[in-house]
Amino acid sequence: MGVLAFPVHRYRRLRGSAPLRALVRETRLTPADFVYPLFVCPGEGVRVPIDSMPGVCNLSVDLLVEECRNAAALGVPGAILFGIPPRKDPLGSGGYDERGIVQEAIRALKREVPKLLVIADTCLCEYTDHGHCGVIEDGDVHNDKTLALLSRTAVSQARAGADIVAPSDMMDGRVGAIRAALDEAGFESVPILSYAAKYASSFYGPFRDAAQSAPQFGDRKGYQMDPANHREAMREIRADIDEGADMILVKPALPYLDVLWEAKQEFGLPTGAYQVSGEYAMLQAATANGWLETDRAVLESLTCIKRAGADFILTYYALHAARLLA
Ligand code: PBG
Repeated sequence: MGVLAFPVHRYRRLRGSAPLRALVRETRLTPADFVYPLFVCPGEGVRVPIDSMPGVCNLSVDLLVEECRNAAALGVPGAILFGIPPRKDPLGSGGYDERGIVQEAIRALKREVPKLLVIADTCLCEYTDHGHCGVIEDGDVHNDKTLALLSRTAVSQARAGADIVAPSDMMDGRVGAIRAALDEAGFESVPILSYAAKYASSFYGPFRDAAQSAPQFGDRKGYQMDPANHREAMREIRADIDEGADMILVKPALPYLDVLWEAKQEFGLPTGAYQVSGEYAMLQAATANGWLETDRAVLESLTCIKRAGADFILTYYALHAARLLA
């Protein structure tokens, strides 16, 4: 008989009361685990609800500051910003405009809520009129020409005061290019959070509504990863670390916990997971129908993402979950 055998051992003994379960709990969720993704748009007093993400809005800078103040007060350590520019063009120039929407938002947040970490999502798709994450040439995203614009974007974000830059475009070599550009501009202390394993996922649909960034032709399968691949993710991550990534992200989160687990085990770097717009939308839709107990489902999914190895979680539920945990 093994030592763990019944009747000497009874697993139910440690499940009998809430204090007992708390004593032996292996994973504890706290507001310090969350990063809050936010969409910032031009104007003042603007709050535009996003249909496919009930509860999430595009916010003008003044309301963004309020939202971030609330998050910081509850112990949420950081926000990640996505910009909705007033106009888009083929080269995504709104992304690296010194007076661009995200740059303005970063400056306002660092002034008004200095203790909150401001992470800038570094990508062009919110700023290009074709919706792709880089420069189009011969009907495809040109990798190496895109690197220069991403580098420019990251430097302008750092100059505005971003604490961390987070490239999400999936061009090859972008972490190295951005690292070199940041160092060159005197921002050698600004860390890079690389979306190292980012999959071409259907779960980004609602985000593209929010950012009005759906590709106008084709899809992103030529640069984002195939959802079927696991070992390739480890190669992607290793390459990003070699190029200078300080932290990595796995995205989406819940359907990719195997990738998250192995990434953490294998590399041991600070590792985040992004509970993306579609994951949020599914939970909100089930809730709206009365099919799930939202708060339990939200906390369970976030706990499981942490259990699988996430040191932090980008989640649209950051504020909501922080309130539940307060
Ligand atoms: C920009 C970017 C996207 C997301 C984060 N950064 C969209 C995409 O790649 O299409 C998706 C986030 C979400 O779905 O919540 N490239």
